[in-house]
Amino acid sequence: MPNITFSAPIMKKDKTIYAVAGNTSTILALAKEHEIPIPFECGDGDCGSCLIEVTALGDKPLMGMALTEKEKARLKELQMISPAELELAEVNDTPPRFRLACQFIPRDEDVLVSFTGTPGGS
Ligand code: FES
Repeated sequence: MPNITFSAPIMKKDKTIYAVAGNTSTILALAKEHEIPIPFECGDGDCGSCLIEVTALGDKPLMGMALTEKEKARLKELQMISPAELELAEVNDTPPRFRLACQFIPRDEDVLVSFTGTPGGS
């Protein structure tokens, strides 16, 4: 079962939650459930306000995962994905550094989710 640690300057301290195995909730849904204040507006990959930075905890790189077309489009608009990261994401499913919390479903790995608390910040 993965541990997901949330960290933001607007939180008094980091908070770690345990995602149940097989859970298909997005990071945004988990954050809402645990009263973690990730900014959001649309909840559907359209606005980019839920930008987060995702880092693997431990010695393995992040597990591969495909980005949705919406997420790619928003990250490009926000200039939070480089052409090299985009190519790696499309060719190898290598996840980029920045993600949208409403599109990212955590896998069975421990991750750190960072955000600023400002919509569209990271
Ligand atoms: Fe709008 Fe995630 S809440 S893109």
